[in-house]
Amino acid sequence: MAGSRVLVTGAAGGMGRSHCVTLAQAGADVLALDLEDTRHELDATAEAVRATGRTCVAETADIRDTAALRAAVDRGANTLGGLDVVVANAGVYDVPGPSWTIDPQTWRRSLDVNLTGTWNTVRAGVAHFAGGGSVILVSSTAGIKAIPSASHYSAAKHAVVGLARTLANELGSRSIRVNTVHPGSVHTPMIINSRVFSRLCPDVDNPTEADAAAVLASRNLLPVPWVDPVDVSNAVLFLASEDSRYITGTQLVVDAGLTQKV
Ligand SMILES: NC(=O)c1ccc[n+]([C@@H]2O[C@H](COP(=O)([O-])OP(=O)(O)OC[C@H]3O[C@@H](n4cnc5c(N)ncnc54)[C@H](O)[C@@H]3O)[C@@H](O)[C@H]2O)c1
Repeated sequence: MAGSRVLVTGAAGGMGRSHCVTLAQAGADVLALDLEDTRHELDATAEAVRATGRTCVAETADIRDTAALRAAVDRGANTLGGLDVVVANAGVYDVPGPSWTIDPQTWRRSLDVNLTGTWNTVRAGVAHFAGGGSVILVSSTAGIKAIPSASHYSAAKHAVVGLARTLANELGSRSIRVNTVHPGSVHTPMIINSRVFSRLCPDVDNPTEADAAAVLASRNLLPVPWVDPVDVSNAVLFLASEDSRYITGTQLVVDAGLTQKV
């Protein structure tokens, strides 16, 4: 990755920070982007990248806001002298209930961030590719199989695969590869919180992380409840690097066997 310049969205914490640091350790300079109200955590990501000896530019924008996102990516990419890799990682997840109970606002937010925000990110980032490059869209195992009570999320993450497949066709002749990564359960604030614990353990009063871990482990082939952010970052690094130079339009699953369990 030496000399590569990468845009990572959702970079303030969770997997996004891990992607930034992993790519920087491999030699990349980083444009780390997240919401303005995560500025403190985003600065911590930038410090962690700089501690590897690489450059980090931190920018804030809501990926739903096309103009603000484009301005932030333009500023950051111009500082880095261009972009070679886009990691569209920012996303939102909640478990509102069966499809017919989801209110329109909750439905729209999931589609707006997880799908349209991803599309916005690719358009803003690829505009700064001079030669070839790699685009990695972070989907989910929910982009491969259903998640009951979260159809707004599963629909968006399935649609991200359609977007990636189409982009791979459109950008292949420019030597730009486009792939999706599909994490299973990952130990980040997105699922390590009391609301998700209660959904996972409806019969337990005030369920703990250990209660949730037991439920999640029962869904995997391997005897673990979740993977760590770095496990997903290693997949992102592979798809970002020349090691995957002829891989495009495909789906890389990092899920401890969640999607294969019968
Ligand atoms: N954690 C999991 O179990 C899991 C599993 C499968 C897929 N994923 C996906 O992985 C990606 C990263 O998730 P995570 O677990 O690190 O989550 P997280 O909640 O820890 O981090 C998500 C980041 O995205 C940012 N973000 C949210 N909305 C945004 C917006 N509109 N504009 C800009 N930034 C925004 C948040 O501020 C946050 O920093 C997401 O796309 C998520 O859907 C997560």
